[in-house]
Amino acid sequence: MAMKGVLDGKVALVTGAGSGIGRACAVAMAADGAKVVVSDITPAEETLEDIRRLGGEAIFTRCDVSKSAEVGALVQSAIKHYGRLDCACNNAGIGGVNALTGDYPEDSWEQVIGVNLTGVWLCTKHEIAAMLEHGGGSIVNMASILGTVGFAGAAAYVSAKHGVLGLTKTAAIEYAPRGIRVNAVCPGFIETPLLEHAGISKGTETYTAIAGLHPMKRMGTPEEVAAMVVWLCSDAASFVTGTSMLVDGGYTAP
Ligand code: NAI
Repeated sequence: MAMKGVLDGKVALVTGAGSGIGRACAVAMAADGAKVVVSDITPAEETLEDIRRLGGEAIFTRCDVSKSAEVGALVQSAIKHYGRLDCACNNAGIGGVNALTGDYPEDSWEQVIGVNLTGVWLCTKHEIAAMLEHGGGSIVNMASILGTVGFAGAAAYVSAKHGVLGLTKTAAIEYAPRGIRVNAVCPGFIETPLLEHAGISKGTETYTAIAGLHPMKRMGTPEEVAAMVVWLCSDAASFVTGTSMLVDGGYTAP
C-alpha cells in the first residue's frame, strides 16, 4: 500500500527508536509516508514490525550515538538505502543516576553528557553534511522540560538537556540560510521504559506525585510527542527553526 501523508517522499532517521518516544516517532513518521532508518544500540524488531504492519518502509541500522564513527555510518546507511536524508529525530537518551549535585558520580555524569548532549551534537554534525547535499532538511532534537527548568537529583540530565537547547539554537542560526531547520521538542514526563528504569512505574506513589505536577494530572504518551516531531519535520513547519516546542501537559506553565 502506498503511504500518503505529510512526510511523503521524505527520508528520515530516528535514534533510540527501539523503545518509548523514539519508537513512536519512527512509527508515526512512517505512517505519514517517510522512509525511516530505525536506529538503536539494541535491535528494534518491534518498531520495524509496527511499521511493516501499517505498510510503511523502514530499515534498521545499529548505532551508539556517543560514537562519531557509528553516527557517520548511520547517516551513510540512509544515503545508501534511500539516496538522501531529509528528516532526523535525535532522540536517544538515558536518565542517569539519581544523586545530589555534590554527590553526582563522575562516571555517570560523563555517560549522560556523552549520550544526551555529545550524542545529539554528533548526530546533528553528520546529518548536516548529508542534508546540505540535497538542499536542506529538518532536524528535531529530543530535549525535555528538564531542558528549561531544574529537577533535584538529575544534574547531569538537566545539564545535557539545557545544552541540547543551546546547540539547537546555534545550529539553527548557522544553517538557516542553507535550508536546514533545527528545532527541539521538550516533553513533560512521558510513560516509557525510561521512567520504569528510574523507578517511576505506574501505580507507585512517585508516579502519582509526578503525574500531579502536570496541570493535566497525567503523564503524556509517546504518540503525543511523536505528533509534534512529525509536524516539525513536515513542510507545514517551513518557517519554524531554532525553537523548542513544549509537549508537557502544562508542566512549565505555572
Ligand atoms: P527509552 O529508554 O524508552 O528509550 C530510549 C532508547 O534509546 C532505548 O531504546 C535505548 O536502547 C536507546 N539508547 C540508549 N543509549 C543509546 C545510545 N548511546 N545510542 C543509541 N541509542 C541509545 O526512553 P524514552 O523515555 O523513550 O526517551 C527518549 C528520549 O526522550 C530521551 O532523549 C529522553 O531523555 C527524552 N525524554 C523522555 C521523557 C520521559 O518522561 N520518558 C521526558 C522528556 C524527554
